Amino acid sequence: MSNQLHRLKGRGWQLTSGVLAAALLGVLVFFGVIGRTTDVPSSDGRIRLVLTATERNYVLTEMRGLLAASQTVLSGALDGDLDRVARAARAVGMADVRAMPIEIRGPLIGKLPIGFKQLGFSVHEGMDTIALDAETLGDREHTLRQLSELMARCVACHAAYTVLPSETREDLTADVR
Ligand code: HEC
Repeated sequence: MSNQLHRLKGRGWQLTSGVLAAALLGVLVFFGVIGRTTDVPSSDGRIRLVLTATERNYVLTEMRGLLAASQTVLSGALDGDLDRVARAARAVGMADVRAMPIEIRGPLIGKLPIGFKQLGFSVHEGMDTIALDAETLGDREHTLRQLSELMARCVACHAAYTVLPSETREDLTADVR
């Protein structure tokens, strides 16, 4: 093999390992193995996620969207209006997660514990399933059962995590928290 070919091969490996290292870093940050702030217990025993005000507002706005969508799914199913069910559920499906502004997604995803992300994603995926089933099956009993099962996950997550600032003076007054 010529020297030049050797050098080229060497560079190829450097590039490949560089890409692999970057991908691994991305995976570790994504799953919260690194880059995550410590989970601090709150005074009510739940795990406190230490977020900035912007991040907290984003999460809570998402939450109010989930509540509104759940109510629309419920009323749509009761009225037998499965188009309304599908529209409302899809609006808070995984597309909603992918639409998260990049400047929030980067730091926020790195801070959230893996259990939180799994539960959160499963709720958004569950909304996509509700939408799809409403369109394809058109069975409102099925929709209601799906919503009920999905909402057990809202309950489970709320029992485990909080984003409320701690009661220390700095936390209550700092507008970045
Ligand atoms: C992955 C975890 C998780 C899941 C799943 C989840 N939530 Fe939440 N939600 C939270 C956290 C954390 C808060 C903040 C509560 C706190 O700090 O005490 C919250 C807050 C809320 C709030 C209050 C919003 C506000 O403005 O204060 C609503 C409403 C809400 N969630 C609705 C829902 C509904 C409905 C579902 C299911 C369809 C759901 N959530 C699923 C974690 C979750």
